[in-house]
Amino acid sequence: MAKILVTGGIGYIGSHTVVELQKVGFEVVIVDNLSNSNIDVLNGIEKITGIRPAFENIDCVDYLSMDRMFEKYNDIEAIIHFAASKAVGESVEKPLLYYRNNLVSLINLLQLMPIHKINNFVFSSSCTVYGQPDILPVTESAPIKPALSPYGNTKQIGEEIIRDTIYANPCYQSIILRYFNPIGAHSSAEIGELPNGVPNNLLPFVTQTAIGLRKHLQVFGSNYNTPDGSCIRDYIHVVDLAKAHVIAVQRILNHKTKSRVETFNLGTGRGLSVLEIIEIFEEVTGVKVPYRLVGRREGDIEKVWADPSYANNELGWIANETVEETLRSAWVWEQNLAQRAKAE
Ligand code: UD1
Repeated sequence: MAKILVTGGIGYIGSHTVVELQKVGFEVVIVDNLSNSNIDVLNGIEKITGIRPAFENIDCVDYLSMDRMFEKYNDIEAIIHFAASKAVGESVEKPLLYYRNNLVSLINLLQLMPIHKINNFVFSSSCTVYGQPDILPVTESAPIKPALSPYGNTKQIGEEIIRDTIYANPCYQSIILRYFNPIGAHSSAEIGELPNGVPNNLLPFVTQTAIGLRKHLQVFGSNYNTPDGSCIRDYIHVVDLAKAHVIAVQRILNHKTKSRVETFNLGTGRGLSVLEIIEIFEEVTGVKVPYRLVGRREGDIEKVWADPSYANNELGWIANETVEETLRSAWVWEQNLAQRAKAE
C-alpha cells in the first residue's frame, strides 16, 4: 500500500494517526525533530501495531535535510503535516519562532512536493481560525476572524498558503482538517498526550491534578456568557481524530475529492464547559479534581463547537467515542505514566 510521510508523527495527534494508518496497511515514514515529543513513542506505536515505522530526526524547517529525506524515501505518495508549535501563550511571547516553525516548514514541504512528484497534502488546521464564531455550531463556511494569537495566525496563513499553492499547480490536491479539542489516549495506554513541563491544555492538567502531581486545577474564567460561566469547547477523542486522517488520505489518493482543496471540521458537534468536563471526569473515574475559579486566560474564546455534518456526510466519518470513554482513557494513560515513572 501507499507510503505516507507523517511530519510530527511522534507527537500527540501524529502518533495516534500513525497507528491508524498502519492498521489499515499504509507504510509510514515519520519526520519529527523531537522538540516537543519523545522518541519512546516509537516503541508504543510498535507495541500496538507490531510495526516500527521508519523515522527520521529532521526539522521540517531544514530544507536541504528534507530534500535528502525525500530522495531516500522516493515513493511517498501523500504528506500529512502535523509538525508545528502549538502553545498559544508561547506564540504571543515568541511570534517569530511560531511564524518560522509553522510557516517555513509548510513552505518547504509545498516547494519539495513537485520536485519529488508528490501531489497530495493533508494539513492540520484548527478551529482557532474561526475565532469567536457568530453562529454556533460553526460550519466550514463561517467567516475567518482576525487571529487572536500568532499561533492562530500561522494556521490561518498556512491555510491561505496551501490554497494559493494548490490552485497554482493543477496536479496538487489538499485536504485541510480543522480540529476542535483533541483529548484522550489510545485504548492500549501505550501512547497518549505527553506534555512538556507544565501543561497548557485542559486535559493533561486535569489528569495531573487528579493523580496528585498538581495541587489544584485553575478554571480560567467563571463569568463567561455560558450556562455555568466557564468556557465551552468541543472535545474529541484523539483516536476518532486520527481515523479521520486515514479517511482523508484514502479519499485524496483515490481521487474522490470534490475540489482541489477541501476543508473539514473535525469535532463531535457537542459543546462542554470546563466545569462539565471536571464533573464528568470525577464521575467516570471516582477521583476528585480540586479546582479553583480564577480570572480569564488571555486570548481564550468564550464558546465554540463544531457542526461536523460536512465531514459526517462527505467523509462518512463520525466521532464515535463518548466523552465518558474519552476521559476514562486519559485517566488510564495518566496512571500508566505514573507507573512508568515509578519503575524508572
Ligand atoms: C487552543 C487553541 C487551539 C489549539 C490548542 C493547542 C484557540 C482558541 N484554541 O485550544 O486552536 O489547537 O490550543 O494547544 O486558540 N483551561 C482551564 N484551565 C487550564 C487549562 C485550560 O480552565 O489549566 C480551559 C481554557 O480556558 C479553555 C479550555 O480549558 O476554556 C480548553 O483549553 P485548552 O485545552 O488550552 O485548549 P484551547 O485553548 O481551547
